[in-house]
Amino acid sequence: MARHNHSSASLLKLGFLALVASAVARKPNPKCQKSTIKCPISLDGRVSNDFALETFDTNDSPFNPEYTKNLDINWSEILNFPDTETSSRFDAPDHKAIEVTINDSSIFTPGGGDPQNGFRRAGLLLGNGSDASNVGIQTFHWSVKQDPQRPLNLTHEYMNIFHETNDYSANQWSFSLGKLLWEGAPSQLDEDLYKVLDRENNVIFTTEVLEDEWQNFALTMDIPENTLKVYYSQGNNPLKAVTEAVGNDNTGGGQFQIGLLKKPTGTSNVVFEGYQESGIDEGQIYGGLFIENSAGACVSL
Ligand SMILES: *[C@@H]1O[C@H](CO)[C@@H](O)[C@H](O)[C@H]1NC(C)=O
Ligand SMILES: *[C@@H]1O[C@H](CO)[C@@H](O)[C@H](O)[C@H]1NC(C)=O
Ligand SMILES: *[C@@H]1O[C@H](CO)[C@@H](O)[C@H](O)[C@H]1NC(C)=O
Ligand SMILES: *[C@@H]1O[C@H](CO)[C@@H](O)[C@H](O)[C@H]1NC(C)=O
Repeated sequence: MARHNHSSASLLKLGFLALVASAVARKPNPKCQKSTIKCPISLDGRVSNDFALETFDTNDSPFNPEYTKNLDINWSEILNFPDTETSSRFDAPDHKAIEVTINDSSIFTPGGGDPQNGFRRAGLLLGNGSDASNVGIQTFHWSVKQDPQRPLNLTHEYMNIFHETNDYSANQWSFSLGKLLWEGAPSQLDEDLYKVLDRENNVIFTTEVLEDEWQNFALTMDIPENTLKVYYSQGNNPLKAVTEAVGNDNTGGGQFQIGLLKKPTGTSNVVFEGYQESGIDEGQIYGGLFIENSAGACVSL
């Protein structure tokens, strides 16, 4: 089926064709089962079914092949293709899930900097900070699923998805899990809630982590209007708006980072110090990673 063209003439034509089609055959045609994405994609992080792990180490990866991870370990060792039984909502039918893992070796040393010994982290970067996702109205999509073989330890704080400004001084928004450990964090929030935070670390949406279902999130960032709006659904259900468009400082450009960033306990200097248990083997499964252009209020649900 062709991509929809929103001129009224073609909408009328589609309506007419749909009428004819439903008169001819009322059964859904499996060949017609197609992507639920209906807006132009600005950056595509979906991984096709035939994609090889080693390709993540090359410039053919949809993500940055170098960052953000232990630079001595290749992405093809950090990532795997988990058996998720079902594809996530925006991956079906042609794309598959990926899992980002961390262990005791997951220590990032930025160029010219000191090793970030406080964190255990591996984060895929989609975009370079000056691309199509940095202008206008953009919706960031991600789906998550848990790996029972590699559970997270929610007495730690995980900042797993974030949009970091180009000068690395802030995140316009982030997606966290576990116990929020920073000074002044809202302590009443359960650790097993996913939390969407704005630039000032206000929690604007929470939802419980499910053990074996896909959970789908989307966030519309209206860059010129300085607002954020969150969408959510479970399983294969269509996304629903779960917040209004809330005010936020969206300036500063940046990149979509997707993975695991586990903060230490017992410190305020989280980057370099604190406690991390040894012998960890943790993972987070992702699917349906893409950024779409939401001009004209287009959002794929
Ligand atoms: C990472 O992958 C590249 C390209 O395949 C290879 O040349 C290199 O040896 C690998 N590095 C490690 C640490 O495995
Ligand atoms: C962590 O995983 C990487 C990638 O599989 C592996 O190279 C490394 O040896 C592991 N480190 C530990 C401490 O198990
Ligand atoms: C970033 O990506 C865009 C789109 O691929 C490209 O046009 C631009 O030159 C890149 N910028 C940098 C600094 O690499
Ligand atoms: C979770 O992390 C805490 C703090 O690092 C540690 O004491 C505890 O043993 C961990 N629990 C599990 C189940 O790994």
